[in-house]
Amino acid sequence: MDGNGRWAKSRLMPRLAGHKEGVENFKRIAEYLIELDIEVATFYAFSTENWKRPQDEVENIMSLLVEYLEKWLAQNNEKNMRFRFIGDRRAFSPRIQALMDEVEKKSSHFRNQLNLALNYGSRDELARAFRLLAEEGKKDITPEDISSHLYTVGQPDVDLIIRTGGEIRLSNFLLYQSAYAEFYFSDKLWPDFSSEDLDDAIAYFNHRERRFGGVIERKP
Ligand code: FPP
Repeated sequence: MDGNGRWAKSRLMPRLAGHKEGVENFKRIAEYLIELDIEVATFYAFSTENWKRPQDEVENIMSLLVEYLEKWLAQNNEKNMRFRFIGDRRAFSPRIQALMDEVEKKSSHFRNQLNLALNYGSRDELARAFRLLAEEGKKDITPEDISSHLYTVGQPDVDLIIRTGGEIRLSNFLLYQSAYAEFYFSDKLWPDFSSEDLDDAIAYFNHRERRFGGVIERKP
């Protein structure tokens, strides 16, 4: 979800205004994902590196997160996503951790999965997986063993990665899970990324020929 800061700057507004609009767009796109009946979607909201931002920006982002989670719990929605917070949540305040636990619990009956990546980084996730496997005394480690010790345990591999804001890099996002993912890069800043843009990304994906390292037999 890249481009909140630039969206605000282009309007001569503070970065916080961009993050606020970013959360509004997150809500719009999450609703649209339910409409499309997407099985699993992951939003990269805050990376293990994002703590390096100025303290007031980090505090603002944390306040927006608290506001979002509190409102979610208050609204009692009929239609919603099943939340999972992926990342090392120990870095967050006890209040935020409690909200995460509650939202996960109260959304567990919904059908479509929404992962919100917070204090997430793939390198951190992989190191954690290897630590857990070592603690279990696991030998002859298989790719499946690694998958089952990631935050995304039980979820399918990534089909499509969409990055907004014109950047063409992965930035430590779902490195292991996206081994055979398709990539879609959009110049739109995240607050401007619309449901029509998501349709375009999905249409692009639907025209990709996915071989997963194999070959596709064609009749002569
Ligand atoms: C990316 O734009 C945005 C972030 C790193 C933070 C976004 C997270 C939140 C607003 C809180 C999360 C809460 C929910 C519920 C989604 P950027 O600041 O990197 O933009 P730029 O590239 O234009 O500077």
